[in-house]
Amino acid sequence: MSKLTGKVAVVTGASKGIGAAIAKALGAAGAAVIVNYASSKEGADAVVAAIKAQGGKAAAVRGDVSKAADAQAIVEAAVKEFGRLDILVNNSGVYEFAPLEEITEAHYRKQFDVNVLGLLLTTQAAAKHLGEGGSIINIGSLVTRIVPAGGSVYTATKGAVDAITGVLSRELGPRKIRVNALNPGMVETEGTHTAGFIGSDFETHAVSQTPLGRIGQPDDIASIAVFLASDDSGWLTGEQLYAGGGLR
Ligand SMILES: NC(=O)c1ccc[n+]([C@@H]2O[C@H](COP(=O)([O-])OP(=O)(O)OC[C@H]3O[C@@H](n4cnc5c(N)ncnc54)[C@H](OP(=O)(O)O)[C@@H]3O)[C@@H](O)[C@H]2O)c1
Repeated sequence: MSKLTGKVAVVTGASKGIGAAIAKALGAAGAAVIVNYASSKEGADAVVAAIKAQGGKAAAVRGDVSKAADAQAIVEAAVKEFGRLDILVNNSGVYEFAPLEEITEAHYRKQFDVNVLGLLLTTQAAAKHLGEGGSIINIGSLVTRIVPAGGSVYTATKGAVDAITGVLSRELGPRKIRVNALNPGMVETEGTHTAGFIGSDFETHAVSQTPLGRIGQPDDIASIAVFLASDDSGWLTGEQLYAGGGLR
């Protein structure tokens, strides 16, 4: 029997990048997975097909986590399709860098809406269904330690993720539901390619400061998510796990 056999997971933003790798790893560990996407149906369908090809169960569900009705529908899909909910991975996220003089209301709202409000709305919907042994994994970022120039708004959203993780570990602890943050360093994804980070001076600098000498790959993060989802991490809650090859 695999580690997560009989469990049901929702992974937001699982059509590509870190979310896709986490969804596949949870599926390989035996969980049935709701693969959420916002715009990339093709990407989400490919993740579902990969999970099913390994004998797992999965379904793709569209929804914008920053809209309450969508967040609720994403979570309800788990109960409708697979009958329960045990694991929520709040992975959906957007990142845009801008120096202080270029920050706009739109730049602020877009990132706070998805990275913070979206996480809260999805967790609120999920908390109604999670029972004893439930695990919530919030994807934060190592940026809160590095505090890179030009990253005020994005870094603030991930600082909020760390803070919310601590608060909700207290609110949900009495119900034996765990809440942890998983905070990656730079990872090669569709998003970091589009943002121009891969191949940039930023990447070169990150690698030079990383004891393990490279940036991360989505699977580096996915295996830690499986650990946090499983009872192997049963005594961890309210923690921030930094996953950056030793980068500080
Ligand atoms: N890559 C890194 O270096 C790195 C480092 C630290 C932390 N992180 C965090 O890790 C997470 C994933 O990053 P990534 O690099 O894998 O990103 P990515 O490749 O850009 O993928 C982002 C995912 O989020 C989804 N998404 C965006 N807006 C959404 C919304 N409103 N509702 C639902 N889903 C939405 C996207 O869906 P569609 O494609 O369907 O639109 C996509 O599946 C983010 O929270 C990011 O902040 C990334």
